[in-house]
Amino acid sequence: MPLDWSDGIDRHRALWEKAEAQHYNPNTDIEWDALDPNDFTPDERVALAYWFGTNAVFENSGTPTFALGLIKASEEHIGDATTKMLLTVARDEANHDEMSRRIVQRLLPGFPHAFSPSNDLERAAHRNLRWIEYTNSRYWSSFKRAFDERRLLALMSNFAVGEAAGAVIFSRTGRQSEHAVFANVLQNIGVDESRHFACFNFMAEESWGSLSDEEKATLAKNLKASYLYISVIFGEPQQPFWDVPDGFRSVHRSLQSAARDAGLGLVNEDEQIDVWRKAMLRVKATADRHDVPYPTIEALDIDGEDTPISAEDLVVISF
Ligand SMILES: [Fe+2]
Ligand SMILES: [Fe+2]
Repeated sequence: MPLDWSDGIDRHRALWEKAEAQHYNPNTDIEWDALDPNDFTPDERVALAYWFGTNAVFENSGTPTFALGLIKASEEHIGDATTKMLLTVARDEANHDEMSRRIVQRLLPGFPHAFSPSNDLERAAHRNLRWIEYTNSRYWSSFKRAFDERRLLALMSNFAVGEAAGAVIFSRTGRQSEHAVFANVLQNIGVDESRHFACFNFMAEESWGSLSDEEKATLAKNLKASYLYISVIFGEPQQPFWDVPDGFRSVHRSLQSAARDAGLGLVNEDEQIDVWRKAMLRVKATADRHDVPYPTIEALDIDGEDTPISAEDLVVISF
């Protein structure tokens, strides 16, 4: 690790400066005392804790995910600004996780690991969340393997998909939220995610034009896999990644809608499809510019190349 202040992706320098300027303190900049569990019914508390708990699975694993990226960026000498930018992405994920953790612990203390469910709804929420974290943990080793085998830029540029969807969904949910604490938390996350999108989109702009045909074909699979995988938090669990047990889907759907009704501000199912479509088209614009084949996604009415995928094509496990 020699001293290296050179920048490979110039636009990451201004983005890193923006990340520092937009930094907030998750412990003190949110008015945590304004989140009163008594503002919600017991069922609403379960639904909200489930939603933020689900979100936290991805935020929590985001910190090591992006930290690994920053180590690899340093090793490959992608540039000083890129390393610093990835450091802020890892930090942001820790902040998102912390804000989610505080909400869950305030609404449903101990959930999920030091919690004994006392009714059917709590049992169902607990079982679903344990299933989500189990599934997410299964993909860590394939993510690490991909890191050993591929170049950082070819690998991490995939993250643009989740960040693009996250930027819009968190910001919109934050704007629609009826509770000041949720609004504040979600808007902070939304601002961070749009910076993260820019970070990975700049990586894509830098690297996609020079990929080999084989790398491009792999990338197309990874892009589709990212959308299918991340959909669990902004929609439905999808195959081949979410091999969920009987009853999971109906619980997931009803808790999402209960969280929405409790004032979370979560976009409805039609809007979720619309957001995903826009996010995927945003990434497609970059892919088209660099002749990267883009997957057909029928559910979003996106026309591209037929791209069959398997569970091995997943490299994005956080966003
Ligand atoms: Fe995040
Ligand atoms: Fe992110």
